[in-house]
Amino acid sequence: MLSKAVQTKLNEQIQKEAYAANAYLAMATWAEGESLPNISEYFYNSAQEERDHMMQIFRYINANGGKAKLKDALGKVQESFKNALEAFKHVYELEHNVTMAINELASWCQKNGEHATYFFLQPFVLEQQDAERNVGEIITIIERMGYEPRNLFYLDKQFKKINQQEAGTE
Ligand SMILES: [Fe+2]
Repeated sequence: MLSKAVQTKLNEQIQKEAYAANAYLAMATWAEGESLPNISEYFYNSAQEERDHMMQIFRYINANGGKAKLKDALGKVQESFKNALEAFKHVYELEHNVTMAINELASWCQKNGEHATYFFLQPFVLEQQDAERNVGEIITIIERMGYEPRNLFYLDKQFKKINQQEAGTE
């Protein structure tokens, strides 16, 4: 049975994963509007991943005698970006915030003797490390290929490969 304190912390994390899913959906809309189909696919996939994270935590709480809850208000998300580089710098920030939240939660569990939840969180900890590394690599690709209008066709095409690679590592 989960303690009230750990339930509160996990429900806060649900909120953050749901916010991240929403933020990625807004980026998918932006990319569709910019006629970048493969980049928008990347954002749709990322939104789905965040929703999956939210669901894992949601189910974990309910399966262990707690009450999972997603609040109505998720917070405002950014809907427009100057260019692809700015969009992915925003992704990096978003992922980094989630990393810090997960790390704080894991540290809290360790300090408070919440061993089962600490172990439950380990895949999340490692996944955030991968997420930050992948986004860092994508930012390098964007900087090298260029993100001016004349480069966008090839940059977007590059995301076809990136999407396939990401699908292969899941
Ligand atoms: Fe996540």
